[in-house]
Amino acid sequence: MVTEICEGVYWVGVVDWALRHFHGYELSTPRGSTYNSYLIKDEKTVLVDTVWGPFADEFLANVREVVDPAAIDIVVANHAESDHSGGLPAIMRHCPEATVVVSKRGAESVPGHYHQDWNFKVVGTGDKINIGQHELVFVEAPMLHWPDSMFTYLAGKNLLMPNDAFGQHYATDKRFNDEVDQHELYEEALRYYANILTPFSEMVIKKIDEVLALGLPVDMIAPSHGVIWRDDPLQIVEKYKEWAAQKGEQRAVILYDTMWQGTRLMAEAVGAGLAAEGVPYKIFYAPVAERNQVLTEIFRAKAVVVGSPTVNRGYISTLGTYMEDLRGLGFKNKVGAAFGSYGWSGEAVKIIEEHLERCKITVAAPGVRAKWQPTADDLAACAELGREVARAVKGA
Ligand code: FEO
Repeated sequence: MVTEICEGVYWVGVVDWALRHFHGYELSTPRGSTYNSYLIKDEKTVLVDTVWGPFADEFLANVREVVDPAAIDIVVANHAESDHSGGLPAIMRHCPEATVVVSKRGAESVPGHYHQDWNFKVVGTGDKINIGQHELVFVEAPMLHWPDSMFTYLAGKNLLMPNDAFGQHYATDKRFNDEVDQHELYEEALRYYANILTPFSEMVIKKIDEVLALGLPVDMIAPSHGVIWRDDPLQIVEKYKEWAAQKGEQRAVILYDTMWQGTRLMAEAVGAGLAAEGVPYKIFYAPVAERNQVLTEIFRAKAVVVGSPTVNRGYISTLGTYMEDLRGLGFKNKVGAAFGSYGWSGEAVKIIEEHLERCKITVAAPGVRAKWQPTADDLAACAELGREVARAVKGA
């Protein structure tokens, strides 16, 4: 349902209640998502972002509730990823002469997706476009989260439209942050940050400082996914600064796979050691765990302890995706450790430790290996490993 979010500015996006995976199957979205698009009626009619292509008809119908799409003068494409630009071809068929505003890198990525000779206008930080009573102000936001990403600010309404930044994959019938369950909202905002924005945390801090230094008053932050922050909108900015610092909580994640339960027994013994030192932990069994939940928990925690049996002279393949995630997400300020049972050669623990170090996760204590099923001594060694990790967490 179209919503006037402030006088003359309309949410014309769509809610994707059914979405459970995003970026193909790279990211899970257990609460669906929304693709937010904002229509501004002034002397000029402006559309800021569109929606994912499969929803183009529904989107056009929403636009038509407010204006004839042929009347659109300016379309701002803050970011080329298809969940925001997918509706561009449908809109542009109605207003082919409209100006399509893009960032410098958007001048590569938007045409690169659609191969259309639209009337592009390239803008940079501080550039403005007068649309009548109001002005659009643009702020480049490279790597939040693509090189082309850009924020659009509507001066006079104090409305910041930062595209993916501050978003949440959160389908709801409500449009504003004060209308929804706060636990759900923050769970999704954190999942979004941890899984998408973690690698760019240093840039998040710099960009937030840069935007705040512009001194632009902000009454509302309207991202391209999820709800609009109108109640204390800077609360999510503060939260992003906190998350970007990646200080981590005094808690641990134990992630393991097992073939005949030996490594599972070791995982539980490591947990007992953590608990003995007062550090809470969660254990995830890799083959059935929900990957993005695990990564979110690793983001929150100061420690990640990985357990694997040795298979084919390495760690078990179900852990491979997590090993790649630890590399790619580039978590900061974490300690780690490894453990695992083995039958013959037993390389997995050493390989995991080497990988943790390559990921700049400090190995807190030498790993524990158990030949065949773990003995009582092996489990005691795992508990001691948990205690050492806990002490590193508390000292870190
Ligand atoms: Fe980077 Fe919501 O797409």
